[in-house]
Amino acid sequence: AHQWRGIIEEYRERLPVSETTPVVTLGEGGTPLVRAEVLSELTGCEVHLKVEGANPTGSFKDRGMTMAITRAKEEGAKAVICASTGNTSASAAAYAGKAGMVSAVLIPQGKIAMGKLGQALVHGAKILQVDGNFDDCLVLARGLSENYPVALVNSVNPVRIEGQKTAAFEIVDRLGDAPDIHVLPVGNAGNITAYWKGYGEYAADGLATHAPRMWGFQASGSAPIVRGEVVKDPSTIATAIRIGNPASWGFAEAARDESGGFIDEVTDRQILRAYKLLAAREGVFVEPASAASVAGLLKATEEGKVDKGQRIVCTVTGNGLKDPDWAVAGAPQPVTVPVDAAAAAERLGLA
Ligand code: F0G
Repeated sequence: AHQWRGIIEEYRERLPVSETTPVVTLGEGGTPLVRAEVLSELTGCEVHLKVEGANPTGSFKDRGMTMAITRAKEEGAKAVICASTGNTSASAAAYAGKAGMVSAVLIPQGKIAMGKLGQALVHGAKILQVDGNFDDCLVLARGLSENYPVALVNSVNPVRIEGQKTAAFEIVDRLGDAPDIHVLPVGNAGNITAYWKGYGEYAADGLATHAPRMWGFQASGSAPIVRGEVVKDPSTIATAIRIGNPASWGFAEAARDESGGFIDEVTDRQILRAYKLLAAREGVFVEPASAASVAGLLKATEEGKVDKGQRIVCTVTGNGLKDPDWAVAGAPQPVTVPVDAAAAAERLGLA
C-alpha cells in the first residue's frame, strides 16, 4: 500500500493548483471512516464517523490550511493571519512554520482550549489575545489583512473551502456513493459549506448518484443560524463553536435548503452526553464541539426524524486530546495502590 500523500496530491485535478505550485503538506486527509456500532444500533441506521481528529494537527482545519498556505506561498506572502477559537490557529501555525512563513493568530481571551494554545505556541505563532469573542477577532483579522502585508487564512478565504471539500470526496470514494445524511457541527459555517461543495462536485461528475441531506448542529448558546439573528455574547462549553455571527452563514443556509436538510441546536448537556458515549462506547475521543454532530443525530432520533435503514456519516471534527478538561472534570481520581498484585486485583474487582 502507498502512503497517503496529502489532499493536494490525492485530489490535485479537483483543486486550484498548477504543476508549479509549491505544495506545503503535512500529509493531511486520508482520515479513518469508522463504522459506529452503538450509534447504528441506537438509530437503526448504518452510521459512520469521519474521524478528522486524525489529521496532523488534530482537526479538519489541516485540509483547508494545506491549500491556504500553499497558495499564500505561491503568491509570495511572508506572513499569514487568522482569527480562531483554537484549531485554525494551531493548523495555521504548523503549516506556516513548515513553509517558513510568519503566522499571527488572534484568539478570544481565555476561551480557547489549552492544547490548542500550546500548539500555536510551540509551532511559533505570534499570538494576540483579543478582549472580545471570535467574531471580534475575525473583524480584526480581516481589517489587518486589508491594510497590512499579511494574508488571511480563515475560511472566508475560498481556497480553505476548496481544501476542506476533499473530506466529502474521501467519504464517497470509500462508501462507493454519497451517504443519505451527513451530520456536522456548525460554528463559522465553513465546513458545512465545503462538504456541500464537495458532494455537489462528485454528483455533477457522476461519481455519486446523489448528494446527502446536510444536517448541521450549533450549540444552544451559540446558535445564530437557528435563531435567525446574530448572537452578541455566544456561550457554550464547546469553545471551538462559540461563534455568534458565522462568516459563511448564507452558504450554510444554502447547503441546508438545497439538500433538504436542517440546522438545529444541541445543549451543552447533550453535547457532553454524546462526547462520553463516543469515547466510552465507540472508542473515539473527540473534543466537545465535535460531539455536537453526534448529539444532534441522537436528538433527531429521539424526535423521530431519522428513518431506519439510512446511511449516515457524522464528521467528528477535532481530537479529544486538545481539550481533555471535560474528560477529567467530574470523574473520580484514580485510586492509589501499593506495588502489590493482591491489592491491585481487589481494587480492579478481579479477586
Ligand atoms: N469543530 C471544531 C473542532 C472546530 O474547531 C470548528 C471551528 C468547528 C467544528 C466548526 O466548523 O467553523 O467550519 O463551522 N473552528 C474554527 C477555529 C472556528 O477557529 O478553529 P466551522
